[in-house]
Amino acid sequence: MGEFDGHRAVVTGASSGIGAALARRLAASGAAVVLVARRREKLDEVRAAILAETAGAAVEVVSCDLATAEGPASLVAEATAGGARVTILVNNAGVGLYGKFREQRWEDQQRLLQLNVVAVTELTRRFTEHMLAHGEPSYVLNVSSTAAFQATPGFAVYGPSKSYVRDFSEALAFELRKTNVQVSCLCPGATVTEFSDVAGQVLNDRAHKFMLSAEQVAKVGVKAMRKGRVNVVSGGLNKTNAFMTRLFPRRVTAWAADFAMRKVVSERGEGEAPSPPDGGEG
Ligand SMILES: NC(=O)c1ccc[n+]([C@@H]2O[C@H](COP(=O)([O-])OP(=O)(O)OC[C@H]3O[C@@H](n4cnc5c(N)ncnc54)[C@H](OP(=O)(O)O)[C@@H]3O)[C@@H](O)[C@H]2O)c1
Repeated sequence: MGEFDGHRAVVTGASSGIGAALARRLAASGAAVVLVARRREKLDEVRAAILAETAGAAVEVVSCDLATAEGPASLVAEATAGGARVTILVNNAGVGLYGKFREQRWEDQQRLLQLNVVAVTELTRRFTEHMLAHGEPSYVLNVSSTAAFQATPGFAVYGPSKSYVRDFSEALAFELRKTNVQVSCLCPGATVTEFSDVAGQVLNDRAHKFMLSAEQVAKVGVKAMRKGRVNVVSGGLNKTNAFMTRLFPRRVTAWAADFAMRKVVSERGEGEAPSPPDGGEG
């Protein structure tokens, strides 16, 4: 018996990285899974891997661009067609965008906001209505980031998109606490996936020493979801860093984030310290 027997999970961003690992773990725990992303062939590979490792797994694949205005609604329609019930929503699809704010293209910033913020909100809204209506025990797991804990120069748009996901999840978890829908938020730190390549970040060897695997992060996320934990950070070092942000003024944590980033990103002048912050409101 798996702990999610009888559940049906929609996992966005399941064609690679953390989403693929979350889908594999949920399938291994008994849930039927609906894998969602744009690249059909990658989704088919994840589907084949799940079928190979979990006998009798039920796996559907939906190719969908969630950064379009119609993407989220069409996914909900497809996942609930014919009266099918969804009891788990994993809002994992997300992209980073690294570099100076003014040097980034507006089109890329807009797509990021559409995917990381608007699609997450719309999918949560539509699927929680569906879950509240069918009344079965249900879960929403939103994937944020440790970037949600402080301002991160170089991630001026991405970071706040993840702060939104974290605050949104916490507020919704509170509002829905007496219903059949439990909301959790997973905040990974640096994880070995396609994320950095997509974000335009070249990480050096130092970075890889601190990174977790997608499987490690997925294990933390699924456990948090099962236990109804509202907010969880994956990894001991990430937990410590996230906690430390509470102890310092925000200008200092932004400076520290910039310094740490320079240590791990190749093309920004490795190890070169920025000017320390000069006081500020914190
Ligand atoms: N890796 C890290 O260091 C890290 C740290 C903190 C938080 N996170 C968060 O973890 C989540 C998963 O990222 P990851 O690290 O696993 O990166 P990843 O390997 O790049 O995976 C991103 C997933 O999102 C999908 N996706 C991207 N654009 C999409 C769109 N327009 N419509 C539908 N799906 C789309 C991608 O699939 P297609 O390209 O096939 O569409 C892919 O499956 C993200 O929300 C990210 O912000 C990652």
